[in-house]
Amino acid sequence: MNRRASKIFRRGPRPVARPRLVEVAESLEQARGLDRAVGAISMAVRRTLHPGRVKDVLHGVPAGHPAHPPLTDVPVGCWASVAVLDLLPGTRRAAQALVAAGIAGAIPTALTGWADWSALHREQQRVGLVHAMGTSTATLLYTASLVARWRGRQGTGRVLGYAGLTALTAGGYLGGHLAFRQAAGASHADPVAHLVPLGWHDLCPASELPDGWPVHRRLGYIGLFVLRTGDDIHVLTDRCSHLAGPLHQGRVITDDNADICVVCPWHGSTFRVADGSVVHGPATGRQPAFESRVLDNGIVQVRPLG
Ligand code: FES
Repeated sequence: MNRRASKIFRRGPRPVARPRLVEVAESLEQARGLDRAVGAISMAVRRTLHPGRVKDVLHGVPAGHPAHPPLTDVPVGCWASVAVLDLLPGTRRAAQALVAAGIAGAIPTALTGWADWSALHREQQRVGLVHAMGTSTATLLYTASLVARWRGRQGTGRVLGYAGLTALTAGGYLGGHLAFRQAAGASHADPVAHLVPLGWHDLCPASELPDGWPVHRRLGYIGLFVLRTGDDIHVLTDRCSHLAGPLHQGRVITDDNADICVVCPWHGSTFRVADGSVVHGPATGRQPAFESRVLDNGIVQVRPLG
């Protein structure tokens, strides 16, 4: 090794500078001190919210997207507007009405948030818990602000409002970290349209597929869930759209409409194997599905379902 190379080797990689806020959020991901609270609250949420229609609505299954993110617009929009109105003369009643509207909007926002939070990975739950502490503090401060405004103590109401906005901003930052850095709420299914060329693709001999028992097969870069039931062969991408759980390890069931479904082994999302549609959350996004056919030589071919 020449002298220059050995110098480079001794230096090692340069530490990457990260924004301070990101460092704080990432340290929360590893904050094991939160785990007792996370465990207790998770259990309480699971005991309160049983799998079924209400929980699916809270997750956003009927809308096909998580319900929590758009609902946050209501309290954030109302309370940010209050911060502007409080700087202007003659806006007392309007500001008071918007504080109240924000508090009303915070209730469904919190319910949907807790439902989603209860089905996250532990690192996400740690960040999510602190995010919820920030937004709950904001709600309490705005409630106190509303009471102060009702009693005619406008100055106190404004100060409490700005304190609430500060807590909301901190909580909102962590919500952004949870959504965009930790990808809670985004679909984790493989992007089939970008990974699978158009047309039919050989998969495997049909004789390799056990009847009624899901197996894992690969098609290029992506893993597939493959289920043969009699003469039918159902194929979905294997990574669950919720948080990438392995669907081929899930349970196969029949739903109320007699459709065959697979239940994800991680958090119980249920998908129809015929087309990947969501029967029960927490997943809200359809599981990418494939058409299949068996050639005369017994080879199964698949192509993405449009
Ligand atoms: S990974 Fe959560 S339900 Fe599949």
